[in-house]
Order: sequence, then structure tokens, then C-alpha cells
Amino acid sequence: MSGAAAAIRSPRARAGANGQPEPGRAAPRRVTVLGSTGSIGRSTLDLLERNPDEFRVEALTANHNAALLAEQAKKLGARFAAVADPADYPALKDALAGSGIEVACGRDALVEAAERPADWVMAGIVGAAGLEPTLAAVRRGRIVAFANKEVLVCAGTLFMQEVAAYGATLLPVDSEHNAIWQCFDFDRVDGIEKITLTCSGGPFRERSVEEMRDVSVEAAVAHPTWRMGAKISIDSATLMNKGLELIEAHHLFQLPPERIDIVVHPQSVIHGLVTYHDGSVLAHLGTPDMRTPIAYALGWPGRTAAPMQRLDLAAVGRLTFEAPDPERFPALRLARDALRAGGGCPTVLNAANETAVHAFIAGQIGFLDIAATVERALERMPKVSLDSLADVYNLDKAARELAAELVAARARSFG
Ligand SMILES: NC(=O)c1ccc[n+]([C@@H]2O[C@H](COP(=O)([O-])OP(=O)(O)OC[C@H]3O[C@@H](n4cnc5c(N)ncnc54)[C@H](OP(=O)(O)O)[C@@H]3O)[C@@H](O)[C@H]2O)c1
Repeated sequence: MSGAAAAIRSPRARAGANGQPEPGRAAPRRVTVLGSTGSIGRSTLDLLERNPDEFRVEALTANHNAALLAEQAKKLGARFAAVADPADYPALKDALAGSGIEVACGRDALVEAAERPADWVMAGIVGAAGLEPTLAAVRRGRIVAFANKEVLVCAGTLFMQEVAAYGATLLPVDSEHNAIWQCFDFDRVDGIEKITLTCSGGPFRERSVEEMRDVSVEAAVAHPTWRMGAKISIDSATLMNKGLELIEAHHLFQLPPERIDIVVHPQSVIHGLVTYHDGSVLAHLGTPDMRTPIAYALGWPGRTAAPMQRLDLAAVGRLTFEAPDPERFPALRLARDALRAGGGCPTVLNAANETAVHAFIAGQIGFLDIAATVERALERMPKVSLDSLADVYNLDKAARELAAELVAARARSFG
């Protein structure tokens, strides 16, 4: 537990005596958004646009979406814009010609974006593809608003060691972790018994296994309470998202898996809870809108005004809770087992899941094949320890290759 304070900062850690931002904070805050064209990126930019005097945009990045990236860069006056895929570079270059905004492409350009002078970097790329640029921001000792959970799942302990070694600050953005962060007493961690992540249950919460067998991609991405990118929406439908979040919470709050609970709460009003030894439970509530946790991270250690609909408990009426069903949703069990097994198991879990989710989106395999592919990959990959980030990259690559073979075998018998 003692590592928690070193990993992430108390909401009050650097606040002045009156709760105002620490003296000496540069204003406006210089911000870089990795993955600015995605759901998290767009929500972040919405808040930046609404508070133009508080923030200045340094760099923005995308994978392919050069048109939106160029539009965002012009609108927010960014200094640097980068696309990961070189094939999209000409479109970005043309769209920003004459604007004075520097443009670049490729994996190195994403790292450059993360390294440019910024006080605050949003890690908003999806998947382990975000590891290198997020690490680059960490190694510059930046404040990193952390949404890209796959980074912690695939490189957990080694990533947290880099955070500590370079004096970076991680601010949890995932709504559940942000909620727990706001309720977590960093000065008295010994008084904390457990934390609880809530889970909407996804679009198939009430379906039988048989009913989930032939669900479409459209049905799987149609999340009942949150509007998010395709990958996390499908992870929410399999409940793998909650498994990834369990591993993320373990690293952020330095708690063993048995002290991290998951409860299904379909209304998505309570996002996270902290239970103390005296029986007190502190919870964080809000409407399901990612701009709330992003605003908190943007303003930290103060608070930034944000526009979302306010919580009206009388209108919500009823809050309900149930235990997750490990039989219908094996992904959560696989993630918990991978975390307990340690070593490279979470890396394999993540790589196989990313591969299987992409195959499902591409129509190559069925919905139930996602968790089945992950389970088979975990069985087949040798159990290894991770001693360096090179080990992480190698294992991630090997697990993706195996998962691609498993997917191809399933694809032959699918449809
Ligand atoms: N969305 C949410 O509400 C939410 C909530 C909590 C946590 N998160 C986490 O936040 C992260 C982002 O989620 P999202 O829903 O915003 O995803 P998303 O909408 O799919 O956006 C992903 C962003 O990353 C870029 N990207 C995708 N693949 C890339 C690659 N290989 N290399 C470089 N950039 C790449 C995308 O660029 P293009 O647009 O060009 O494809 C886009 O800017 C995920 O880890 C997710 O689990 C999301």
C-alpha cells in the first residue's frame, strides 16, 4: 500500500492551503492530447475549447483520421500534429499547409508529440499502441492524465517503475479509477479495506450465452449508458473492460486483487467506492459523461468548470446492484486469474483480447470467440516473467501472433 502515494498523487497533494492550484503553476497550462480524434480525445478538446484562457495546446495525435486531426489542430491552435500511419501523412500535410502547424507521421512522431514541452499530457490512445508515447511523456516527468488502460495491463509493474523513476504524475481518468482517486485517503492508506469498481453490465447483461452467440458488432458497441470508442464498447459487452480495469486499479492503487471488488450497477451513477476499516464507504457519483473525470484531471489540483448535465437523483429514482456472472462473462474471471498469475499473463491477456476484438469488429469471429481466444492464448503461451520493457514488447508481439492463429482457426468455422 505504501507505494500508492508514489504512483499517483492525492487529489490534495499539491493544492495550496485554500484548495487553490499550487503557487507557481504555469498559466495557461500547456496540454498535449495523444489520441485527440478518439472519444476521450474529443471530450478533452471540448473542455479545452470551453476554457481557452486556462489551456494552450501543444500537440495532437491520431492514427488515421488526418481530416479531423487537422481541423482540431487549427481550431485549438496546436503547434504540432502527428498521424501514426505514414499513409495518412499527405492528407494531414495538405490540410495544414500554410497554417504554421508542424506536421509529422509514424511511431517516432507520436513519441515526439509526447516529448514536446507540455505540462499535462492526455494518454488517450486505445490499446498497447499507446505504450511508447505514454512512456515518452512519463520519461519527461509530465503530469499524465491516464485513460489508455491497456498500457498498464500490458506493462504494469515496469510502467509504474518508470513513473516513479522519472517523477511523473499519473492522474486516473477512467471514470471508476477517477472516482476512487477522489475518495481514497492517501494520508491514511492503512485505514482502507478495499475498493469497488462499478460496472454497467454492458448491453448483454440480461442475455443468456446462447443469446450472445450471434450478436452483431452494432449490438455489441451499443453501450447502454456510455458513448465510447468501438474497442472499449466491445470490452464492456464482454466485461473484459472491467477485467482490464481491475488490473489497472491494482497498479494505480497498489492493492492486491482480493481487495478490489466489482459490482454491476446498471444505472452508472456511482462510479467507484472506497471501504474503510471502520465500515465507512465513500462513493463518487455523477452522470455518465467522461468530461467529468477529464475535467477533474485537467484542473487538478483545482477543479475546472464543466458543462455536463448535473445528477438528478430524484429523476434517477432507483440505484440497483448485482454481482457479475462469471459463467456468462468469463473475461472478468480470465483477467482476475491473469493478475493473480502475474508475470507476463496480463500482457498475453491484453494482446489476445485486442487481436480478438479487432477480428470480431472485422466480422471474422463471433462474440463468444473473443473470450475463448483469450483463454486459449493464456493456456498456450509459456508463463514468463517480465524483467524489462523489451520483454513486454516481445511477449506482446508473440501473443498477438498466437492469437491471430487462434482467430484464423475460429474464423474458418465461423459463418
Ligand atoms: N471512451 C471512453 O469513454 C473511455 C472511458 C474510459 C477509458 N477509456 C480508454 O481510453 C482509451 C481511448 O479510448 P477511446 O474510446 O477514446 O478510443 P477511440 O475512440 O477508438 O480513439 C482512439 C484514439 O487513438 C488513436 N489510435 C488508435 N489506434 C492507434 C494506433 N495504433 N496508434 C496511434 N494512435 C491510435 C485513434 O486515432 P484515429 O481516430 O485516427 O483512429 C484515436 O485518436 C482506451 O484505452 C479506452 O479503454 C475510454
